[in-house]
Amino acid sequence: MFGIAEVARRAAVRLRVRVNPGVRHFSTALNYHLDSPDNNPNVPWEFTEANKERVKEIITHYPSNYKQSAVITLLDLAQQQHGGWLPVSAMNKVAEVLEMAPIRVFEVATFYTMFNRTKVGKYHLLVCGTTPCMIRGSCDIEGAILKHLGVKRNEVTKDGMFSVGEMECMGCCVNAPMIAVADYTKGSEGFTYNYYEDVTPKRVVEIVEMLRRGETPPVGTQNPDRIMAGPAGGNTTLLSEPKPPPCRDLDSC
Ligand code: FES
Repeated sequence: MFGIAEVARRAAVRLRVRVNPGVRHFSTALNYHLDSPDNNPNVPWEFTEANKERVKEIITHYPSNYKQSAVITLLDLAQQQHGGWLPVSAMNKVAEVLEMAPIRVFEVATFYTMFNRTKVGKYHLLVCGTTPCMIRGSCDIEGAILKHLGVKRNEVTKDGMFSVGEMECMGCCVNAPMIAVADYTKGSEGFTYNYYEDVTPKRVVEIVEMLRRGETPPVGTQNPDRIMAGPAGGNTTLLSEPKPPPCRDLDSC
């Protein structure tokens, strides 16, 4: 039997192994709320006139007695309109429109990591940190962006242009490592969410600088030897047209 001090020491060692704060940080920094002068329930918030029409249209996609099912879509629209994050007043507005208890809306906004409950940059850069991207160098990718921008993860640059977060697998492992860029510079009308794949530390810095200049870097793979998600350097199998399936001679059956 171990004494309580030994049990606590072993638990701390296990925790350090699983959660090495020098390497990985969870993304909770963006998903909790503390009242502040510009983010409290008394700050008025409303959908724009154009978005009010979109809200009406979105709600028609759901049965009238299940309109709360539109909560994710409306939160997404509110976030795009508000420059990439959801103040508590925007969540309260969504709750009011969908006739939901505000806590139900807060729960959704907190659970899904694509919703940000504190300010992000006009370009929110998300580095995939899941195993295939990590094996292919995602730590170096994130390190290069953070160093270039002079921020820590989840911090916003002083000019408000960029922030860097982490996401789990974004379904693009075949072209790992990859980042996604949420572009809030043009409001909900011009919002884009683009993938940049096969990135290197040098290439992500180039992408950041292109965004800063207002350019649109080519999306998808950044490896000139790869076409979309095909093998880099060209096909290695299935090099000719596949043969048609043999026709069965039904008379001989
Ligand atoms: S692990 Fe990065 S996209 Fe799947």
